[in-house]
Amino acid sequence: LDNGLMKTPPMGWLAWERFRCNIDCQNDPKNCISENLFIDMADRLFEDGWVELGYNFVNIDDCWSLKKRDQQGRLQPDPERFPGGIKHLSRYMHDRGLKLGIYADMGTYTCMGYPGTPLDKVEIDAQTFANWEVDMLKYDGCYSNATDQAMGYPLMSKALNATGRPIAYSCSWPAYQGGLPPKVNYTQLGEICNLWRNYGDIQDSWSSVLMIIDWVFENQDVLTPAAGPGRWNDPDMLIVGDFGLSMDQSRSQMALWAIMAAPLFMSNDLRTVSSEARSILQNKMVIRINQDELGIQGRRILKEKSNIEVFWRPLSNDYSALVFFSRRTDMPYHYQTSLSKLNYTAGFYKIHDVFTDETKVVNESTVLDVPVNPTGVVMFYVSAKLQIHHFSRGGKLLGA
Ligand code: DGJ
Repeated sequence: LDNGLMKTPPMGWLAWERFRCNIDCQNDPKNCISENLFIDMADRLFEDGWVELGYNFVNIDDCWSLKKRDQQGRLQPDPERFPGGIKHLSRYMHDRGLKLGIYADMGTYTCMGYPGTPLDKVEIDAQTFANWEVDMLKYDGCYSNATDQAMGYPLMSKALNATGRPIAYSCSWPAYQGGLPPKVNYTQLGEICNLWRNYGDIQDSWSSVLMIIDWVFENQDVLTPAAGPGRWNDPDMLIVGDFGLSMDQSRSQMALWAIMAAPLFMSNDLRTVSSEARSILQNKMVIRINQDELGIQGRRILKEKSNIEVFWRPLSNDYSALVFFSRRTDMPYHYQTSLSKLNYTAGFYKIHDVFTDETKVVNESTVLDVPVNPTGVVMFYVSAKLQIHHFSRGGKLLGA
């Protein structure tokens, strides 16, 4: 969507996967969906170095409202859990360089049974969100049908624009239509939404991450061209820092989300996230790859019999990123390749391993011995071809 927003994939925090519809503030005051939870996460983002890295959205998901609209027909936050109101929260965010996202649903109810925003409520709710100074809307699709969705998703896009407030727009529409043409029209989505979910919900498990990876890369010919600045495929939240992934699997999720030019919305507890998980989520080079300004979504370029897969994403200034991913279940596998085997043209390149921080200069035929752990990745940030003619004689590199 060409509204000037999200020229690179959005980053931040989203409540759903980790905190779900926990509204029991009596027994679980620290973890229930309430303004305190969002304030806690905002404080962590602000104080623990996340904002500087780009993680600037704090997003509310389902279960924030009362079960009834107010007398003027407006959605209203549960006053016990959000005593300050949503505007108070958005102000809290804005004071800290953060942005606030909110959630609505195009059907009669949200997935968890709160009031929906069907066609006749689109305008009033868009205006309410703008009045609250909200910066993003996730528009879910439970309890709606294909006909209503085809009207409702474009209508909400117009209504948000008509408020005059820049509000980024996340559409769950394709996820409710199987994610693929002909039911899903990616040209239209790119015109009306900044990002869109096109597949099922992530859960806190490696098998869930794998299912998403499989679906996205099996359908890469459809999905890759749909993405670009201002319009992103959303394979759902990062679960790094939760319970389901090993550290290798966490690096795999982070690396492949960067290759996919995916939104980086963490759904974890930033108050207790381990230092290992944090260092993966805060890896500057992976973030730089994710945030590359060209905004070209990467692809799987090789599926080897050895169960190693290779992914590649072109970056600005002729840089690129490579990921070697192992589906093996035995031991670290030494995958041997070279840049020429990965379609690079002749020349010298600098390779930076983003997780070990090692760098080396290689040419197209240098044998690369890449040890990949089971369910893990190795990720390279590859420079443009080096201008080495100053240093080289007889084709051999003397220094760079
Ligand atoms: C379905 C969505 O796909 C999830 O991300 C989450 O928003 C839930 N609905 C909330 O009910």
